Amino acid sequence: MSEPTADNISIVAVIGAGTMGHGIAQVCAMAGCTTRLTDLGQAQVDAGLTTIASNLAKGVARGKVTDADQQATIARLSGTTSLEDAVRGADLVIEAAPEQLAIKRDIFTRVAAVVSERAVLGTNTSSLSIADIAAPIPNPSRVIGLHFFNPVHIMKLLEIVVAEQTRDEVTASMRAFAERIGKQPIVVKDAPGFATSRLGLVIGLEAIRMVEQGVASAQDIDKAMTLGYGFPMGPLKLTDLVGLDVRLSIAEYLASKLEQGAHFEPPQLLRDMVAQGKLGKKSGQGFYEW
Ligand SMILES: NC(=O)c1ccc[n+]([C@@H]2O[C@H](COP(=O)([O-])OP(=O)(O)OC[C@H]3O[C@@H](n4cnc5c(N)ncnc54)[C@H](O)[C@@H]3O)[C@@H](O)[C@H]2O)c1
Repeated sequence: MSEPTADNISIVAVIGAGTMGHGIAQVCAMAGCTTRLTDLGQAQVDAGLTTIASNLAKGVARGKVTDADQQATIARLSGTTSLEDAVRGADLVIEAAPEQLAIKRDIFTRVAAVVSERAVLGTNTSSLSIADIAAPIPNPSRVIGLHFFNPVHIMKLLEIVVAEQTRDEVTASMRAFAERIGKQPIVVKDAPGFATSRLGLVIGLEAIRMVEQGVASAQDIDKAMTLGYGFPMGPLKLTDLVGLDVRLSIAEYLASKLEQGAHFEPPQLLRDMVAQGKLGKKSGQGFYEW
């Protein structure tokens, strides 16, 4: 059995058409893959396809995408509410469903029942163990983490997360595929929080502790990192964009999983703000007003 190489991945199925899934579908379709997007309901599928069309139109307006590429990309995309129809015959499946182990395991079990043994199965999880997600399926050696960043069509990084059982050929194939879709890959072990979530979170949590201790205002802490260290965005503004509830649940997960868990103990201020419904941009209030 041999994995599809980057060049002969021709059919990609993306599961979940939300914030991440539609962007992943867009970059795969732009790279020439027949791409099928699936979600629970037609409304989510349609919203994902509409956002892709709007991203492409903006790309054309800015001179980044040609008219021909826009049309060809849209022609390569389709949507369905049937997970089985989406993944049948796919060379690569990328799951971008909610960050809950039970949901992801159920999806992988259904996918494995339909796809061929040679299909590569990727998950866009931002913190869960790839080995845990892959555990229920036969032949988990074809499962790999493909951690994209938001917004997917703009952000250049692809964090490839390799579990102990992931075959080397699968990793090599995904490294090459990352380049084909215009991303720069890094390869990281399946350790809690991988590289990006673990490092990003520790800075974010420390920034929240500094607000809690009155060291400086949120604006000044963010300025410290943007102007002093060249970060494109301060850690508190980023926390508002990601969602304080999302950061809290990843912090709790890493505090329980990592040996150095104390770094990840959520500050009381974070817990209090989440309890008060101050979730960041999505609720209109976080460390900033939106
Ligand atoms: N949002 C981010 O910035 C970000 C960044 C990197 C990774 N991630 C990860 O990507 C994954 C998806 O996150 P998101 O922000 O796109 O979430 P989201 O809530 O925007 O989208 C998830 C979509 O999955 C759908 N879904 C739920 N169950 C499904 C099922 N059984 N079959 C098909 N679709 C199903 C939902 O209806 C929803 O549309 C999570 O694992 C998250 O941790 C998110």
